[in-house]
Amino acid sequence: MKTLLIKGIAFLALAVFLGACNKSPSFVSTNLSSVTAKFSSIKANILDTKCVACHSSTNPNGGVSLASYDEVMSSPGAVTPFQPHQSQLFWQCYKGTMPEMGSPLSALELQTLYDWIAYGAPNN
Ligand code: HEC
Repeated sequence: MKTLLIKGIAFLALAVFLGACNKSPSFVSTNLSSVTAKFSSIKANILDTKCVACHSSTNPNGGVSLASYDEVMSSPGAVTPFQPHQSQLFWQCYKGTMPEMGSPLSALELQTLYDWIAYGAPNN
C-alpha cells in the first residue's frame, strides 16, 4: 500500500514536470490581414528603449544589433519572417531571458512582436 502511494506521488511529480517542459506559447494571430503591428512602432517603443543599450552596431551582444531594420534582419537568428517561434527576437523575450536587465516585455508588446514577425516582418 505504501509503495503504491509513493509510486503514485512519483508519477504525479513526473507528469507535472513533463507538463511544465511542454509549455508552448499560446500566441495565435487570428486575422493577419488586419495586423497593425509596425516595425516603426516596435523600434520606437521596444527596441530603442529596452534593447539597443546592449544591442547596437557598436555593441552587438550575442552578435545581435537591433538599431535599425537592416541590422535586425541581418542579425543571425534574430528574425525568421513568418516564423515567430524560430525568431530569437520574439523567443528570448517570450522566455523572459531578454531584456537581460529591466522589466520583461508586457503581453501586448510580446503580441506585437509575434504579429509583426508572423506577418512577414515587413519594413513598415
Ligand atoms: C543589459 C544588456 C541587455 C539588454 C538590455 C538586452 N540584451 Fe539581449 N543580449 C544580451 C547579451 C549579453 C546577450 C548574449 C547572451 C549570450 O550569448 O548568452 C544577448 C543576446 C540576445 C539575443 C541573441 C540570443 C540568441 O541566443 O540568439 C537576442 C535575440 C536578444 N539578446 C534580444 C534582446 C531584445 C529583443 C532586447 C530588448 C527587449 C534585449 N535583448 C535586451 C544583453 C542584453
